[in-house]
Amino acid sequence: MTHKPLVLSGMQPTNTLHLGNYLGALKNWVRLQEQMPCLFCVVDMHALTQESGYAKPADLARATREVTAAYIAAGVDPARTPIFNQSRVPEHGELAWIFNCVARLGWMDRMTQFKEKAGKDKERASVGLYTYPVLMAADILVYKATHVPVGEDQKQHLELARDIAAKFNNDFAVPDFFPQPEPVITGTATRVMSLRDGAKKMSKTDASDNSRINLTDDADAIAGKIKRAKTDPLPLPASKDELKDRPEAENLLNIYAALADQDRDGVIAQFAGQQFSGFKTALADLTVAKLAPITAEMRRLLADPAEIDRILRSGADRARAIAVPIMDEVKKTVGFVT
Ligand code: TYM
Repeated sequence: MTHKPLVLSGMQPTNTLHLGNYLGALKNWVRLQEQMPCLFCVVDMHALTQESGYAKPADLARATREVTAAYIAAGVDPARTPIFNQSRVPEHGELAWIFNCVARLGWMDRMTQFKEKAGKDKERASVGLYTYPVLMAADILVYKATHVPVGEDQKQHLELARDIAAKFNNDFAVPDFFPQPEPVITGTATRVMSLRDGAKKMSKTDASDNSRINLTDDADAIAGKIKRAKTDPLPLPASKDELKDRPEAENLLNIYAALADQDRDGVIAQFAGQQFSGFKTALADLTVAKLAPITAEMRRLLADPAEIDRILRSGADRARAIAVPIMDEVKKTVGFVT
């Protein structure tokens, strides 16, 4: 059986979104919206697994509205595509419990993001952080979504979702009940790196604000961060091969190519042999030109939180209309008396 194409993706409302979230995921969502039905979720339940979301109710609510505003400002059309917060659709949590019973400890122990986030003191990490990828599988499969546009860092979580789907279908003898959701990882900036360290991913939780460009940064902040971005002493490379072992140069070129919608070889040719100072000015101008309209629209939307709440409520109603019948089938399949 082939499943109807359906896109689902989500972002955590922890701190503000950054350029990595935009180029790695959000920009692709807007494109996919033209090709397939989509659902976009603000994963507030996942945000409870993060220090910046846990026991900070006002911050979590504010970040949920801000992420919603970012989706819309970047071009997701809430009239066409449901946008909703995860906690409003209780079926996510219901399916996550069932999937907790499907997933194996051995699978979970391989999750690299848990190891990174838990750090050295694993004993003190929350159980929620550990089962985070199981909830993510439920987010996707509760709609039988087939395509999941994400950055490269989510690839392993998608593999887990596929394993959970296959095991459920097999163990309950319901072949093809859940689809095998495919990651959609496209563009030249699927892994945007920190501006301070080319070996580290740009992240919402990095202690240094200079490591990332936030979608809420103004033109001066953007220009300042790009100017201070770490580089090496060589001029810009003349070919792809010369990028080897130059992660900072590679990162800035990838960002430029993604923002300009150009392929990277073209960008390399354009700046070959030049000094970083001139390239950084061009990159700052481009970044400001692309982000300023999004930032301005976010500000406009956030001035009317009641409208954002209305969008989230309506999105959740439409999402539930898909999830409830699927959950009914799941409950019957596992033997719950309904
Ligand atoms: P989150 O909130 O960490 O990130 C949101 C999206 O942004 C992408 N991303 C990046 N892409 C390129 N470079 C970077 N430096 C970078 N940092 C983040 C992420 O890959 C992601 O696509 N687990 C997910 C949230 C989630 C989800 C889901 C996603 C929960 N349920 C269901 C898809 C489907 C996450 O941590 O996102």
